[in-house]
Parts: sequence; C-alpha cells; structure tokens
Amino acid sequence: MSALKPSAADFAVAGGTPLFDRPLPVGQLNFPSAERYEDAMRRIMKRRYFTNHGPLVVELEARLEEYLGVRNVLTVTNATIGLYLAALGLGLTGKVVMPAFTFVATAQAMAWAGLEPVFCEVDPDTHQISPATVEAAIEPEVSAVVAVNLWGGSCDPGRLEAWASDQGLPLLFDSAQGFGVSTGGRRLGGFGAAEVFSFHATKVVSSGEGGCIATNDDELAERIRNMRSNYGIRRPIEVPLTVNGRMSEGQAALALMSLDDFEYNRERNASLRNIYRSGLAAVDGSRIVEPTHVEASNHYSLVCEVDAGEFGMTRDRLMEILHAEGVLARRYFFPGVHRTTPFDSDFPRNVDVLPATDHLCSRVMQLPVGALVGHDDVERICDLIGAVKQFAPVLAVNR
Ligand SMILES: Cc1ncc(COP(=O)(O)O)c(C=O)c1O
Repeated sequence: MSALKPSAADFAVAGGTPLFDRPLPVGQLNFPSAERYEDAMRRIMKRRYFTNHGPLVVELEARLEEYLGVRNVLTVTNATIGLYLAALGLGLTGKVVMPAFTFVATAQAMAWAGLEPVFCEVDPDTHQISPATVEAAIEPEVSAVVAVNLWGGSCDPGRLEAWASDQGLPLLFDSAQGFGVSTGGRRLGGFGAAEVFSFHATKVVSSGEGGCIATNDDELAERIRNMRSNYGIRRPIEVPLTVNGRMSEGQAALALMSLDDFEYNRERNASLRNIYRSGLAAVDGSRIVEPTHVEASNHYSLVCEVDAGEFGMTRDRLMEILHAEGVLARRYFFPGVHRTTPFDSDFPRNVDVLPATDHLCSRVMQLPVGALVGHDDVERICDLIGAVKQFAPVLAVNR
C-alpha cells in the first residue's frame, strides 16, 4: 500500500488533497539570483547600450565560439528565427526532409522560409532520426535535410553528416535542445552546414528568449550576419532581404550568467534523472528514455513513455491524475507536427504515413525537472506514479 495515497479516494482526481501545493513544471527555468540579475541590468543602464550588437553580445558570441569549438556563433532573438535565417542563408529551396516528431518550430521556421516539409520517421527506441529514416523519405525534389537533436541526446550527427555528404544534400541541425551536449568526442555546434541552439527559458542555458546559430562556414556566417539585422555588421554583403533577429544586451547578460551556471545545472539535472531512474525502475509500463548517441548530455528533459496495456491506463489519463496532484507533466510532442496546422491540410499525403511517430505521440510525456524541482519532489513523483499504477484498475475508469 502506498504511504502517499493509501486508497484510490485519496487521489486529488477523486477529491483528495493534492500531493504538491506548489505545481511542478517541466521546463528548466534556471535563472540567476535577483541580486546578480539587478547588478547586470544596472551595468547595462549605466552604459546605456541596450542592443545593436553591444559589448555583452560580442562577449557572448566569442565565449560561445570557444565553448562550442566553432569558427562562428551568431546570437539571435530565438531559435525559430535562427532556423529561418539559417535556411535562407543556405539558400535552401523546394522540399526539405525533417522529422515530424519535433517541436512545431522546426517545421514552422522552414515554412516561413518558403520550404515544403517532407516528414520522416524517428527510431522508436531513441526518438531520433537516422540515415535510414531520412533515406526512406527522400524524394527527387528534396534539396536538404533538417535534422533534430532531441532530449539532450543526439541523432548521431557524424553518421548523418557522412550520409548527407554522400547524397550531396546540405544538412541543417535543429539543436535547440542540445546545448553543451557532446558526441563522438565533439560538442554539438560544428556538425552539418549549421546548427541552431535555443536559449528559451525552458532550456538549460537560457536568456529568457534567445538562441544562436553556429557554423564553421565563414561565408554563410557573413551572409546571415547581414540578414540578421536591417543594417549589416562587419563586411557588408548583398542579401535579398533583411530582418531583425538581433539579441539584446539584457538577453546576452542572462545568457552569460547562465553559461557560468551551466555545469552546476547539468549536474543537478543528472542527479534528478538518477532518482527518476531508480524510482520508476520497478513501475511496469513506464520507461525513461535515455539521451542517446552522446558522451555528455545536458539532461534537459526527463522523457517517459507510458505503455497503456502494461501500466493499466493511458498516458492521457495518467497525466490528468498527475496534474490534479500538482505534477505538470506535458505531452511533448503531441500531436506530431504532420498533424498540426497548416501541414495537415497543405500536405495531407504526409499525414497517415508515420506510424512510429504517431505511436510515440500517444505515449510520451515529460516529467518535471529543472530549477523548481527538488530531489525529494522527484522521489515523491515516482512514488505517486507507483501509487497510480497500484490503483489503476479503479482510477483508469473513475472519471
Ligand atoms: C526542437 C526545437 N526546435 C525549435 C525550438 C524553438 O526554440 P525557440 O523557442 O528558441 O524559438 C524548440 C523550443 O522548444 C525546440 O525544442
């Protein structure tokens, strides 16, 4: 019998008291103390230099180039704009292959760049794409591959890069979730033609909103620098269109502090993962998805698959029960991008051809990690999920 919930009537969905009085979210939300933040903002106010490639942005880009081991890092307003700029900078046209098991921004950014997505499957174990899943989706008019590195793991970018080079296809990486992750002895950042990282508040390194484009291609970097701003910096290059994708000094200050804190937050995430691992090991029907193809993850997310048959209820019903207890688990990703607007209506031929993606979308959920989640919280979440399973025959139907 569970000490947390001795009977089915003790669950909040059945009228019992919620386990957590403070809801636990899934995002990282690693922010500096108010004192550090105020100090950084005061210095910006004193300099009166707020944006337009100011000193903090210059410092951040140099630090990121060194950390990622790439020749060029261009900070941007967010990763969505970064993906859009990278696609335009690369001059991509026509169709691009990408996974449908990704955040909608991957496909939305390509659509803004005038590209047509051709969705491919992911490996059902790792959730990542592979040369085989991409190859299965290739059509004659495909001009590039947009690969995604998910969950603080990777899609084995070295292998994909070798395959894409054989095919003569440019490769752009959406590494929004992959900052600080290393694979094959290298940090993500230098694979393919370019990689794009997100510094959204939910990511391990954060500037609230923000991101960067990393590339070893100097010409591409110069082109994107000229497109990123309505007036260029460094060497002016003729570009068809410009936009405002600049990062502000306030964002850069946050990102610099977040970089200072990164190793601490990575370790903390790893320790939370260890507790989830042991706490859910004996709960049949739940599987923690480990970050694959990496030597070092950032442990950005804690992804759990729910097998409805083994667990005794669907992922969606489990989430209803968790939410009522204050555990804000998220269906991330649901539905697959191929089933979202406008891709479902514009490209209906993509919709019913991705069974592995649809299967994952019906069983994946993210559990709370990050700054607002303590070690004892995770122990209690695991005990709670164990208790839900114990009372599944009653709770599954007790709507
Ligand atoms: C895989 C992926 N791509 C793109 C994005 C978009 O990042 P941003 O919010 O910085 O635009 C995200 C954000 O969650 C993401 O997870």
